[in-house]
Amino acid sequence: MTSSSDAGRPDVQNAKRQADAAKRAAKKGIEEEAEPHATRKRYHRFDRIQRLEHAALLISFTVLSVTGLPQKYPDSWWGKGMLAAMGGIEMTRVIHHSAAVLLIAASIFHLLALGYRLWVQRAPATMMPGWRDVQDAIATLSYDFGKRKLPPLMGHYNFGEKIEYWAVIWGTVIMVLTGFVLWNPILVTKYLPGQFVPASKAAHGGEALLAVLSIITWHFYNVHLKHFNRSIFTGRISGELMEEEHGRELEEIEDNTRKQPNPSTRRRTIYVPIATVVGLLMLATVYFFLTYEDTAITTVPRQDVEIYVPAEATETP
Ligand code: HEM
Ligand code: HEM
Repeated sequence: MTSSSDAGRPDVQNAKRQADAAKRAAKKGIEEEAEPHATRKRYHRFDRIQRLEHAALLISFTVLSVTGLPQKYPDSWWGKGMLAAMGGIEMTRVIHHSAAVLLIAASIFHLLALGYRLWVQRAPATMMPGWRDVQDAIATLSYDFGKRKLPPLMGHYNFGEKIEYWAVIWGTVIMVLTGFVLWNPILVTKYLPGQFVPASKAAHGGEALLAVLSIITWHFYNVHLKHFNRSIFTGRISGELMEEEHGRELEEIEDNTRKQPNPSTRRRTIYVPIATVVGLLMLATVYFFLTYEDTAITTVPRQDVEIYVPAEATETP
């Protein structure tokens, strides 16, 4: 029997939805309906801007990893091979720096786009962690250990996706700050003790390894192996995945109780010019800092290159 206090519990809601679907099926006598109708639908998940942001992150992160890790392990067979394949250490550094600029530009864009969503559109802050996420995490673990019959119903971003998002934010801040020190060691040591340079190198290299491994094990597992989720490329997610990973949001959609954005033209008119100026100023600051000096630290010793020197001096005309 379901008590009234049980009514809001995720497992009870989940069971109730499945029971409703079964009842509908029995009533209509249609076999197909035995599957909750939601699982056959596709739902909007990411708009074009979000997909573009993910593409910029994916490209810059991959290029930074491919050009950064061989610099961290230059004596390994694969490090040597990769550096050679990319045209040597100098070319590798140029590519690393260019991808870093793309990552910084994408991060600035993300900040401004977030401001637009939250302030102009008054969209709910779906990535903010809350107490409910702790409950969902505990419920998921109990389910995984067989202590619960059904997994919890979760919102637009579940606790795992929130952890991942905030890990990317925190990782990017560390990489940009330490990368900046490695790029401008002379400027930095004018104001900060010299130990900041080797410390930044250790942090930059260590965080790079952590980030690459966690994307491969955590993110790829979640979006590729656990399910083949293409929503970040197509913008739409299957009903099956909605049921499994965002069941609470699915219920809100079906009950029409999901919080809707409330955009305002007045706020837009104020925000867009200010954000454009702030964005351009931030880009100009980045340009200034990144071109301030030409002395980034040497991760791999410069190569000795054979050059032609005539044995006898050329005659003076
Ligand atoms: C997720 C992104 C990034 C990854 C995975 C990454 C990875 C790496 C790695 C592994 C190294 C070698 C460190 C060592 O030898 O211990 C390195 C060096 C370096 N990185 Fe990054 N990095 C990233 C982002 C950035 C950013 C945003 C900047 C600039 C703001 C940057 C600037 C540098 C610089 C200046 C060096 C020194 C070598 C050089 O001049 O190219 N990196 N990076
Ligand atoms: C081949 C590479 C990648 C694929 C196939 C991929 C795929 C996906 C998919 C399908 C989602 C949507 C998951 C959902 O329904 O919410 C997603 C979200 C996300 N991705 Fe990726 N991704 C890749 C690389 C990356 C990289 C390199 C990063 C960051 C360094 C990244 C960061 C994120 C973040 C922060 C989210 C939002 C949080 C989440 O939903 O997990 N992705 N990705």
